[in-house]
Amino acid sequence: MLGLLLAGLGERSGQDMAQALGCTRAAVAKAVAVLREQGFVIQAAPRRGYRLIQEPPLVLPARVEARLSPDSLGRPLYHFDEIDSTNLEARRRAEAGAPHGACLVAEHQSAGRGRLNRRWLAPPQTCLLFSLILRPRLGLQEVFALNNLMSLALCRALERHCGLTPGIKWPNDLYLDGRKLAGILTEFTSRAEAVDHVVLGVGLNVNLDRRHLKGLDQPAASLKMASGHAWDRAPLLAFILEEATALYRQFLAGQHQELRREYERRSLLLGLQVRVREGDQVRSGLATGFAADGALLLQEGGRTVAIHHGDVSLLAWEGRS
Ligand code: BTN
Repeated sequence: MLGLLLAGLGERSGQDMAQALGCTRAAVAKAVAVLREQGFVIQAAPRRGYRLIQEPPLVLPARVEARLSPDSLGRPLYHFDEIDSTNLEARRRAEAGAPHGACLVAEHQSAGRGRLNRRWLAPPQTCLLFSLILRPRLGLQEVFALNNLMSLALCRALERHCGLTPGIKWPNDLYLDGRKLAGILTEFTSRAEAVDHVVLGVGLNVNLDRRHLKGLDQPAASLKMASGHAWDRAPLLAFILEEATALYRQFLAGQHQELRREYERRSLLLGLQVRVREGDQVRSGLATGFAADGALLLQEGGRTVAIHHGDVSLLAWEGRS
């Protein structure tokens, strides 16, 4: 219904819409009432039809789904005004049987989580906070490749939709001009050495401005600060989900080399000296590439080691504030 209103420039008659949707005019009127309750401004002119005047600035399922292709990841989409954490809720729902492709998006999280038990803070209605549930047939080591796919999906969507080119700081961050723009928290549940489900949680700074950044523990970027204007988050989420769908298909089709090359092209680490902290262990070396399973390849002394987890600092960035 919303798709029709968005596609039709100008008015659409109730009759037209009922025909296109295969329902009655009464059902169309009811759907219009439901959209209005959600904050859509829809004008109805007698004998001419309905016209969409304004959409609410929220990441409502109807707004995202109207912009998604039918077989895209992100269906079903669940929206929360407030939740503890979309990753936690995604895990609860996945354990209760939520399907592959389901996505949860929140306007606000009361207990947003980052990697390494850190908190993830975002003022209400400013950012994209979502978690995607996947049920791939993968071994445990391969899960991290999905984390890298989500980094690529974000990069592609931001480049094509917003004209911005963030870089990927393995394993889970996107940076713009040396400031953190997005983080990914990948969590999974396994049974008998196989993955049951994966939750890819994304926090993307969209409409933060300088006043929101006080008190953050590291320099942050946002799409608004980088581009000089605010962004509508619903179409942005649809773009990201479409890119994630295309990348996931490439992955299933075995195009690992192409994906790796794109990841390396977008990586901020490649060819640089880095320090990787994994628990108590710290390694330093040259980042030479990435393995098919998503691991960072580090040349340390004379040998190359594959690292699957860790917190990376770029030696060239150290000492900056
Ligand atoms: C990190 O950089 O440490 C990862 C941050 C991931 C934050 C997102 S926000 C949506 C989803 N729900 C959570 O609780 N965390 C992830």
